[in-house]
Amino acid sequence: MKILDFGSLNYDYVYRVEHAVTAGETISSFDMEVFCGGKGLNQAIAAARAGAKVYLAGMVGTDGKLFMDICGENGVDTSCIRQMSGKSGHAIIQLDKKGQNCILLYGGTNQMITKEYTDEVLSDFGEGDVLLLQNEVNLLDYIIDRAYDKGMKIVLNPSPFDEKITACDLSKVSVFMLNEIEGEQVTGEKEPERILEALAGKFPEAEIVLTLGSNGVVYSHKDERFRQDIYKVETVDTTAAGDTFTGYFVASMGKGMDMGAVLRRCSKAAAIAVSRKGAVNSIPMEKEVDRWQGQ
Ligand code: RIB
Repeated sequence: MKILDFGSLNYDYVYRVEHAVTAGETISSFDMEVFCGGKGLNQAIAAARAGAKVYLAGMVGTDGKLFMDICGENGVDTSCIRQMSGKSGHAIIQLDKKGQNCILLYGGTNQMITKEYTDEVLSDFGEGDVLLLQNEVNLLDYIIDRAYDKGMKIVLNPSPFDEKITACDLSKVSVFMLNEIEGEQVTGEKEPERILEALAGKFPEAEIVLTLGSNGVVYSHKDERFRQDIYKVETVDTTAAGDTFTGYFVASMGKGMDMGAVLRRCSKAAAIAVSRKGAVNSIPMEKEVDRWQGQ
């Protein structure tokens, strides 16, 4: 089973602020740092640090060498990544004193995916291979359709949610990994139980992993239910905590691990990420996760 993550690579410009700037307001930041991020890259690195062999597909610009270096250092296969003329994607992130963030995306080369490129990437993958997707690249509906035709198992993190998600045939998705807000956007329901019911009603074969912020996470598949509380840590930066969880989850799939153990492992990894600055560089290695007992 091969894992292909088809997604975004961003430079994250992180500004530390007292509070996120509001309409009509001008504020100064305390400092600014640049990190490698993007949901595609973060989740690929998380899966690789969790011990999986991962292929990352996506587009970078002429400024994309750092992404390739970081993938190489982490054992993520870059043979599917293409370099284009133009700028890589970036994100402007305001990080407040509580470690909460607001993110403004510039798609750049993440939005240059073509049908030809998609077909070329998918030609190396087939039945039983896993496709991990988020919503920071264009042609999401096409990627899902072609991967489904090939018999790939599709894991979708519908983040950030927008009309591109509703344009997809979500009945082709095998695993949904989403938070409460995305759950509400997909189903129209607010309560976690009702979100799960609505998703299971629409997509009865799909596995659902619903993260509930400080209330932990629920896994639901047919009659199976598993819950896991969060591990409490001092919040430094929540950026990429969800990506860390997702990457660890995908790496654990198909390993025959008990779902309770999988959720514990993913929750620990996400907690460690929350306690550190940045995106890619906040993601822990599996050895650290496995010996971590909480703060
Ligand atoms: O999920 C976190 C990521 O969202 C950041 O790294 C940023 O690039 C945005 O894509």
